[in-house]
Formats: sequence, structure tokens, C-alpha cells
Amino acid sequence: MRLLDKEFELFVTQQEIESAIARISQEISSDYSDKCPLFVGVLNGCFRFTGEFFKHYNGACEVSFVKMASYQGLTSTGIVETLLDISATIEGRDLIILEDIVDSGSTLQQLVNHFSDKNINSFKIATLFYKPAAYDKEYEVFYKGIELPSEFVVGYGLDYNERGRELNDLYILKSE
Ligand code: IMP
Ligand code: MG
Repeated sequence: MRLLDKEFELFVTQQEIESAIARISQEISSDYSDKCPLFVGVLNGCFRFTGEFFKHYNGACEVSFVKMASYQGLTSTGIVETLLDISATIEGRDLIILEDIVDSGSTLQQLVNHFSDKNINSFKIATLFYKPAAYDKEYEVFYKGIELPSEFVVGYGLDYNERGRELNDLYILKSE
């Protein structure tokens, strides 16, 4: 499968991805059964994850989105800016961040800093994909869907220069 100048190959099927999402969603539903958490999706990559996540979520909740940027092409720049902030009141709330993927953790670190001085009641991270060998931050990534090697992937919301987000399966960069 080709996107722009790169070749990719199938790595994780939609079925495997969606059963991992169902598992996290049910786990969070039961952990927060007596609360009304505020979910904060991180755009653009989270759009497929969040859509599928709420098919399985049971209970009262609110959903909002933020937009950050750190990737240019295939490598993280480490520079993250906030492009869109949430409108919901977050004081006293139980926040759960919904990320497409945690790689180096820079985006996550930025989100932790962003919400740290806002008097929230609790703060947890849920990520669909996780690259344990690339993650070098201390903050605990609490809910994890599928662990990946430290290679570049596309599909199911993730892009290569904005291409490939619409793909139903996850593809990995072919080594040359
Ligand atoms: P981090 O800040 O290095 O953890 O990277 C997090 C963000 O970079 C994610 O929210 C994604 O948007 C993007 N990203 C990280 N790894 C990949 C990848 O393998 N493919 C596509 N995008 C990625
Ligand atoms: Mg991205």
C-alpha cells in the first residue's frame, strides 16, 4: 500500500483494533460507573478511536476535543502547540484524555502541563496505540489498547502527512 512516497504493509486489522477499543471502553465504564467523566479527545488522530469507543461506553459522560501539533512527516519534532482548547468547565471534573497513539510522550506531557493547574478532580490517559520503547516520560499511561514497536504506522485515524487517516486497518512503514 502506497501513501505519497512511502510503502506500507498491513499490521493490525480493524477487527483487532476494535476489540481492543471495546475492552478499554468497558474497563473505563466500570471504573467510572459512579461518576460523570469528561472525555477529551485529541484531534485529528482520535476521530476513529472516539467514534468506536462510545459505541461501547455505558454511563453518564461528556465529550470534548483539543487539538495539538507535534509531528512533521515521520518524526516527532518535540514541539507541541495547542491549536484548539476545550470549552467545557473542567474544575472539579474527572478528565480522561483519549489519544490515538503515545509515542515519545511529548504531546501527553504538554496535555498534563496544560491541565495540571486547573483544579481538576482526577486525570487519566487512555490511548489506543502505545509505543513502550519510544515512551520516555514518567507520567503513567493508564489505559492502553495495543502496544506497537517504535516504527511509523498509519491508518485508523493516524496519518502520514495527512494521508491515510481514513484507512480501516493499521499499516506499518516498510523498511527499505
Ligand atoms: P508523541 O508526542 O511523540 O507521543 O506523539 C504523539 C502524536 O504524534 C500522536 O498523537 C500522533 O498524532 C503522532 N504520532 C506518533 N506516532 C505516530 C505514528 O507512528 N504514525 C502517525 N502519527 C504518529
Ligand atoms: Mg498527529
